[in-house]
Formats: sequence, structure tokens, C-alpha cells
Amino acid sequence: MRLIQRTLGSDLSSSSRDFLAIEGLAPNDLRALLDRAERLLPAAVGDAAAEERLRGRVVANIFFEDSTRTRVSFEIAAKRLGASVVNLGASGSSASKGETLVDTARNIEAMGVDAVVVRTSISGGAALVAQHLACPVINAGDGRHEHPTQALLDALALRLRLGELAGRRVAIVGDIANSRVARSTTHALVALGAHVVVVGPPALVPVGFEQLARGAGSISITHDLDSIIGEIDAIMMLRVQMERAAASGIAPDYRSAYGLTEARRRALRKGVPILHPGPVNRGVEIDDAVADDVGDSLILAQVSCGVAARMAVLLRALDR
Ligand code: ASP
Ligand code: CP
Repeated sequence: MRLIQRTLGSDLSSSSRDFLAIEGLAPNDLRALLDRAERLLPAAVGDAAAEERLRGRVVANIFFEDSTRTRVSFEIAAKRLGASVVNLGASGSSASKGETLVDTARNIEAMGVDAVVVRTSISGGAALVAQHLACPVINAGDGRHEHPTQALLDALALRLRLGELAGRRVAIVGDIANSRVARSTTHALVALGAHVVVVGPPALVPVGFEQLARGAGSISITHDLDSIIGEIDAIMMLRVQMERAAASGIAPDYRSAYGLTEARRRALRKGVPILHPGPVNRGVEIDDAVADDVGDSLILAQVSCGVAARMAVLLRALDR
């Protein structure tokens, strides 16, 4: 219907229901999404029944880059809310015959879907799709740009553990330059009043990254993980993004300089939560025993929060 009306010239912009980036999102909107996600958490993990407010709706997952957590959790989130889901990947689709992402999304929309979730290696690709679609578009990770639902789930997992995040010091460690998670989660934490310390080798931390800070919090940069390890309230480890030619390989001493080894973990203050967006490269950016720590590793809690965060975003996009 919306598509037919758009063809007839109605102004039915869905831009306010798109979810493309954390940058520019008002702190109150961010808090409202986190509050809603927190309320939805029991339903997200199957401990309570969700109200099926999206019954009869169809959500299309267009994932032109690989994914385990994001794709599956968007699917579970939509289904918990009563929606149906269709999944399309690059392999097995007509992308292999040269069809563009935008043409793919426009064709899927023409089949009458209600929302499109997009993952792409193109930085800015989700916004590009949104410009061409009448239905809401949700960014599930676009190149090096943003991964806004990851930021929501990170902030939610941290908030559940630490309470209010204002004034907290959170280290984000690794390949900052190529990580959309680093960008989105930094924007979210700063908006919530936290201080983010980005840590990584000089080649993997963009010069001027601290100038991204907008909001009550702030950003600082260091290349020396050991200099801040005892002064932080939380730590998030990142994978080196080899698929984005992050470096021509990981330096042999990467783990000793930037890995969360067991020795370094002992230098953290007691009870400091450890996060990682996944997928984890064990023995590189984080040691097995640290990733699997039952008390302080939030890695699987983050994944659970991801379903709730995506339910909140789908409701924002589609609930009337
Ligand atoms: N899964 C996250 C992303 O897609 C982080 C990563 O792949 O390292 O950005
Ligand atoms: N954290 C994250 O985005 O994981 P996937 O790439 O597996 O979706």
C-alpha cells in the first residue's frame, strides 16, 4: 500500500522510523529505546510471552555481509513480536549476477514487506537503501560506519551491570579504525555521559577520533593499554577487521600489546565487566579463560540483550 501510494506521489517518508545510526540520535530517544529493550528482555529470552504487536507484518533481513548474532537475533526479535521474516544473503541471491544492494532492496520492498534490515560492507549503505525505500530501514552494520543495534545492546548489557553509565570510564580496545562497533558504541556511551578511552595500535586508531564526542561524555585515546587497565569501569575488546584490510595481517606481538590476557585481566579492578561484540578470535584479542569467565564476561549477556534491543527497534519502526 505504501509503495503504491508512493508511486502515486504521496509523501510517506518513513525516515523517522528508520534506524540508521547512533550519531545524531537524541539522548532521550536512546534512553527510551534502552528502557523499552530492558522491559522486553524477559520476552526476548523466552522467559515471558511477548505481546505479538507485529502480527501480520513481514520483516526482510538483507544481509550482504556474513553474520551470526545480528541476523539470527533480528529474526528471533521479529518472531517474538509475531512478525514473519524473510532472509536474503549475498550468496544465493541475484547479487551474484550483478544486481545492486539498492535494486535488491527495492525489489524486496515491492513484494510488500513492512521493514528492511540491511547489512552491507558499504559504509553509508544502509542510508543509501533508506533513500530509495518507503518502508523503514534498519542498519544491521554498514562497512566501517555504524552498527547501531550493537551499540544499544552494549549499552543495555553495561547498564544492567553497572547501573547508570554517566561518569563511568569504558575502554574500547583494538581495531578502532575499521570497527563500526567502536563508532556506534562510543556515540552511545558518550551520549549517556560515559568517558570512553579508545585503545589500539597507532595504525588502527584514527587521528582525531576524540572529536567525535557529542553529548555529556567524552573520548580520549591511548596506545598503551597497560597505562589505563587499572582505572576503568568496563572493557570492550574488538576483533581486528581482517576483511576490511585492517592491517596487512596482525602484528605478531598484537596479543602481548593489546590482548586481554589472563595477566592483564588480573590488573583490572575487581568485578570489571568484560565485553566483546563477537565473533571472538580466541587467543588474539582475548584469552579463552577471560572470554569464558562466568562472573565478569558479559559476552553472552550481550547476545541476549541483542534480541531485546532489536525488538525495541522493530517496535519503533513498525508499531502504530
Ligand atoms: N560483528 C561485529 C560487526 O559486524 C563485530 C565484528 O565483526 O568484529 O561489526
Ligand atoms: N556482533 C555482531 O554483529 O555479530 P555478527 O557479525 O555475527 O552479526
